[in-house]
Amino acid sequence: GRCHAVVPAAGVGTRMGSDIPKQYLRFDGVTLLEHSVNALLRDPRIESVTVAVSENDTHADTLPLFADPRVQRVTGGAQRADSVLAGLRAVPGDPDDWVLVHDAARPGLPEADLARLIDQVLASQVGGILAEAIVDTVKYVGDSGLVEHTLDRSRLWCAQTPQMFRLGELGAALEGALAQGLPVTDEASAMEHAGLPVQLVPGSPANFKVTAPDDLALAAWYLAWKEE
Ligand code: CTP
Ligand code: MG
Repeated sequence: GRCHAVVPAAGVGTRMGSDIPKQYLRFDGVTLLEHSVNALLRDPRIESVTVAVSENDTHADTLPLFADPRVQRVTGGAQRADSVLAGLRAVPGDPDDWVLVHDAARPGLPEADLARLIDQVLASQVGGILAEAIVDTVKYVGDSGLVEHTLDRSRLWCAQTPQMFRLGELGAALEGALAQGLPVTDEASAMEHAGLPVQLVPGSPANFKVTAPDDLALAAWYLAWKEE
């Protein structure tokens, strides 16, 4: 099947607390959003990228990114899942095509990680996500606020993006999860709720999500390191 991408970029960046939404902060003169979209376009298998931006977003207007014929812009929604759904509905593809959903706030997606995800999903025909094995010991805290027990780390993974599923199945799963009021913080959780399989493909730390002010220096470091 063919591959498309959707990039949710309609957030306000509350935790970053910058003057402008974090996806428009610049590294080397290029916005986080553009770094993230360019990372996707580096794989020739991705035919289109649909970016969801917020309704009265003027920051996106001037970006050269949208002059690329492979890139289109749609209006996102109140929650990340609403923005993703708006993007999915505009993807120029068939229900059986694959779609990779990737956060605008992950500018450091390595080329090899993206290629590994697409390779493994196409080979197995099972949707999947990039994920990192947990390196810390993880504590489960009870109602008392004290540690109840330690989780089995060998079974714990941190979900990243891109998350790659069939366009039609993902759209239906997200609509279903939202209609039921289920928490949908990533695409895989909607697929899980729908009882559909999700495979994990190992990713790397460079693909972390820029969230808080301290992350800016780290993102700049990874971007410079990649260009070496
Ligand atoms: N996002 C979106 N639409 C929303 C909320 C988030 O498209 N209504 C996007 C963000 O722009 C970001 C990605 O989803 O690229 C991951 O979300 P997050 O890191 O939480 O970004 P924000 O929601 O902007 O940040 P915060 O939660 O701190 O406000
Ligand atoms: Mg958010």
